[in-house]
Amino acid sequence: MANIDIGIEASKREEIAGGLSRVLADTYTLYLKTHNFHWNVTGPMFQTLHLMFETHYNELALAVDLIAERIRALGFPAPGTYRQFAALSSIKEEDGVPKAEEMIRKLVEGHETVARTARQVFKVSEGVSDQPTCDLLTQRLQVHEKTAWMLRALLE
Ligand SMILES: [Fe+2]
Repeated sequence: MANIDIGIEASKREEIAGGLSRVLADTYTLYLKTHNFHWNVTGPMFQTLHLMFETHYNELALAVDLIAERIRALGFPAPGTYRQFAALSSIKEEDGVPKAEEMIRKLVEGHETVARTARQVFKVSEGVSDQPTCDLLTQRLQVHEKTAWMLRALLE
């Protein structure tokens, strides 16, 4: 394979790709959780939550592609199996079917978790002037923090 010479040393590219792999795993796990809740939500808030969750999982489905492709542009393979995602993700999978309000709480937690992971990786990308990764992570942070707020607002 041709050498990659974009002004970021290989070890830093690897560190950032590893961090982005964790952001990818978190995002994919949150995508699946949100889709799961879209299918299984019940109760008086059904219509609102069913539609809101759909908006959220569609956004997450587009985001995983951008994160994976940034990992590739840095020269590393992107994780793409459930086993890899389970090993890398900080978000736990669901066992049962929570009540609607509990679903909202779990999704707030999930969005906050991705935000924390993204912030950790941002520090590394910022330190080596990896602007495309910083830009991607800034956009992800904005989405996750905004979505967490919107979900939190439903609980008040
Ligand atoms: Fe649907």
